[in-house]
Amino acid sequence: MTQITLIPGDGIGPEITEAVKSIFSAANVPVTWEEENAGQTTFDSIGELIPASLITSLKKNRVALKGPITTPVGKGFKSINVQLRQMFDLYSNVRPAKTTKGVNTRFENVDLVLFRENTEGLYSGLEVVDERLQIVDSISRVTRTGCEKIIRAAFEYADKHGRKKVTAVHKANILKSVGAMFLSIASEIAKEFPHIQYDDKIIDNMCMQLVAKPEQFDVVVTTNLFGDILSDLCAGLVGGLGVVAGANIGKEMAIFEAVHGSAPDIAGKGIANPTALLRSAIMMLHHIDLKDEANRIEAALETILGNKEECTGDLGGRASTMEFAQNIIAKL
Ligand code: NAI
Ligand code: MG
Repeated sequence: MTQITLIPGDGIGPEITEAVKSIFSAANVPVTWEEENAGQTTFDSIGELIPASLITSLKKNRVALKGPITTPVGKGFKSINVQLRQMFDLYSNVRPAKTTKGVNTRFENVDLVLFRENTEGLYSGLEVVDERLQIVDSISRVTRTGCEKIIRAAFEYADKHGRKKVTAVHKANILKSVGAMFLSIASEIAKEFPHIQYDDKIIDNMCMQLVAKPEQFDVVVTTNLFGDILSDLCAGLVGGLGVVAGANIGKEMAIFEAVHGSAPDIAGKGIANPTALLRSAIMMLHHIDLKDEANRIEAALETILGNKEECTGDLGGRASTMEFAQNIIAKL
């Protein structure tokens, strides 16, 4: 049995978490859950956004599944997601985007995985404000080590999963120094993987290519800000945030999470779509080498997604969150 830290989160978080737990238990997945919450819920009950008991659990288990968290609005509340990523050096943000039969999209054969650097660049938190001159300097700090880690993660993933191509995305024509560093590291690492094709694209052209001909991309690797924007763009290519998985992976720890928010407008109604969290949980099973369980659950999910009536309302069906989960369980 592998113990996993489970962060149910806020809003629809607990509902979609219950759905995933019931599917895992029906599939006899050999994991146990250690539940530790964060966010608005723990802030209201014990005055802490990231309780010490959660940190302890994460350090012990080193693998977590996380629902969406509401970061209270207002000065002094730093994003919990950003804090967790920086606290545990979860430098790879991995976001697969694949078309699914039955889910309405403009494209048929998208199957790509985006690797976004998750801790550096414009998200380093280095801002200098000159109140008198009304000027803000937002410093983008990028390190050689940071580039190496994310680019290597992308190539190693491509290698392990039989992917054919890695595309590095940058703005080296304008951001000369960071672009040159990122590209030189990428071409060095590419030499270690001669069986994987390597190319690069400038970010603006990449956006155009992605919405025109997304089938041409396989594994994509980029820096933090470009990756943040591209990852949601890629989700849009395959049905939106309700159906895509996400993971934050470091050397010591990995947190798998639904990338949508806590959906306060539908929270408590039992109608949220659990697909994004379930797909993140399937990625987690691959991470802990439970491949058979991952494939079984994925096959059942794909079957249900191909049959609209058995899905939740956002996918055009009539099922509640738990009915959707039951439908998946019936196909296991
Ligand atoms: P949101 O993703 O929560 O909602 C946007 C729209 O998508 C809403 O209409 C919602 O009902 C719908 N939606 C989202 N997930 C769904 C699902 N699983 N099934 C069916 N419909 C779904 O984004 P919003 O409204 O901008 O943010 C709400 C809260 O979530 C904020 O407090 C924000 O800080 C937080 N948030 C947390 C994230 C995380 O923890 N990873 C990511 C994004 C937002
Ligand atoms: Mg984002």
